[in-house]
Amino acid sequence: MILLNICLIIHLSGLALMLGTTIAETVTFNVFSKSFKKDALPSLNLLALMDKFSALLGIGATFLILSGTGMMIITHGAFAHQIWFKIKLALILTLVLNGFLAGTRLKSKLERQIKERDQAIGTINRIKLFYLTQMTLFFTIILLSIFKFS
Ligand code: HEM
Repeated sequence: MILLNICLIIHLSGLALMLGTTIAETVTFNVFSKSFKKDALPSLNLLALMDKFSALLGIGATFLILSGTGMMIITHGAFAHQIWFKIKLALILTLVLNGFLAGTRLKSKLERQIKERDQAIGTINRIKLFYLTQMTLFFTIILLSIFKFS
């Protein structure tokens, strides 16, 4: 029981780190986007700052996955066959793939387009949609984990 609680503390710390970092990234990106749309010289340092966040995301994800796997082992896979857990895993996979495929691709596209205003604005709007999607996935995963609908 004590080991399960330790895993849960690490799990929730990883969740706080990942979600907090995603919120910080979203806020930073909104500041960048506002100054870009107002025609002010956008601070490219903000984009550079966002690159630094990815290390924190990685640490949070490692905590979540290791502690989650630990809880699965301790509970002898008690949740593995439950429908909420299968949906949770599918959503986690979507979250990770969306982060790597859409997120990374869109951010490097924006860095290339930074001098072509109209194209850059299109990409900025898609990045905002990307953050909204990630946030929605996070909250759905949290709801599923807490209520364990079956
Ligand atoms: C974005 C990723 C994840 C989020 C947001 C998340 C969220 C949560 C939350 C909020 C809880 C607490 C539920 C409660 O105590 O009422 C929980 C528990 C749990 N999670 Fe995750 N989790 C994530 C990833 C994972 C992964 C990758 C695994 C497995 C490989 C996993 C397995 C578990 C298990 C087994 C529990 C314990 C349920 C219990 O004992 O009540 N989670 N998760």
